[in-house]
Amino acid sequence: MSTAPSSSSVSAPPFRVLGIVGTGAMGRGIAQIAAQAGLTVHLHDQREGAVAEARDFIGGMWNRAVHKQRLSDAEAERYAARLKEATTLSALAECDIVIEAIVETLDAKQSLFCELESLLSEETILATNTSSLSVTAIASACQRPERVIGFHFFNPVPLMKIAEVIPGLRTDPDVVARVEALGQSMGHFTARTTDTPGFLVNHAGRAYGTEALKVLGECVTDPVTIDRILVDQGGFRMGPFSLLDLTGLDVSHAVMESIYHQYYEEPRFRPSPLTRQRLTAGLLGRKSGAGFYRYIDGKPEVAD
Ligand code: NAI
Repeated sequence: MSTAPSSSSVSAPPFRVLGIVGTGAMGRGIAQIAAQAGLTVHLHDQREGAVAEARDFIGGMWNRAVHKQRLSDAEAERYAARLKEATTLSALAECDIVIEAIVETLDAKQSLFCELESLLSEETILATNTSSLSVTAIASACQRPERVIGFHFFNPVPLMKIAEVIPGLRTDPDVVARVEALGQSMGHFTARTTDTPGFLVNHAGRAYGTEALKVLGECVTDPVTIDRILVDQGGFRMGPFSLLDLTGLDVSHAVMESIYHQYYEEPRFRPSPLTRQRLTAGLLGRKSGAGFYRYIDGKPEVAD
């Protein structure tokens, strides 16, 4: 893998207007840091009410910062004014770059980018926040694959100050440089990775989740104990089951399946039936109120 980590010094963004499609956990986090960096951000989601929820969520983060005297009222108001709702995809027409953070399936991302190409200027960069899918494969559905790039943030975006920048095989080098500059202008360290399944973090970190799921599957112990041991003794910031719940089992399981299939069913990447089962039951993690833990007022209360 050719990594070319670049400096994380903060400079002016190379773009003025950014679009986000998909305003869930990731889209709203990216919108927050982009508005803080001075960009106008147009938000679009296919679910009615999703953009309003995202704006409320982000506004709540800024209000808390004001309360803690880390942000002035005037700054919070200035940031909030930069967030606009795009009720249709055509309303993203003035964006210099659009980042998608929709569902983790190749078909959905390809058809979104095809539709965006028919609506936006030829110059607009199309970036995907995919966790694991091939950027080259997403771009292969586009008329201009050279403007398609992977720009992969981590959850929660404002706290995880790193982003992978993943050129597809046909991405224009100028697009890569501008996207790296954008990441840095938002205060993130950018790591350039090649377009391989899971890129850097979701490849290197695969064993953390899958092995913990095997330990659980063999009834060695329960998720709370595994999390506790790996945090207290292993030195990890978050246990694997807390992390699966934070990411969302819908996203985590899709990522596990995608990496497994892209590596031609290599056994060490095999997904766990335990996540599939919870997914089927609608136990998605924090976002649904229960996953491996149950959440009361956002706090884990009981583990199953
Ligand atoms: P999420 O489920 O929280 O949000 C997805 C949003 O996209 C929803 O609001 C949904 O209504 C909307 N959406 C779905 N299909 C759409 C479409 N065709 N057009 C417009 N809106 C659409 O998902 P999350 O967690 O934000 O993940 C989004 C992407 O980011 C996925 O590709 C995932 O793999 C990636 N990612 C997720 C991370 C995580 O920890 N959850 C970390 C890094 C990347």
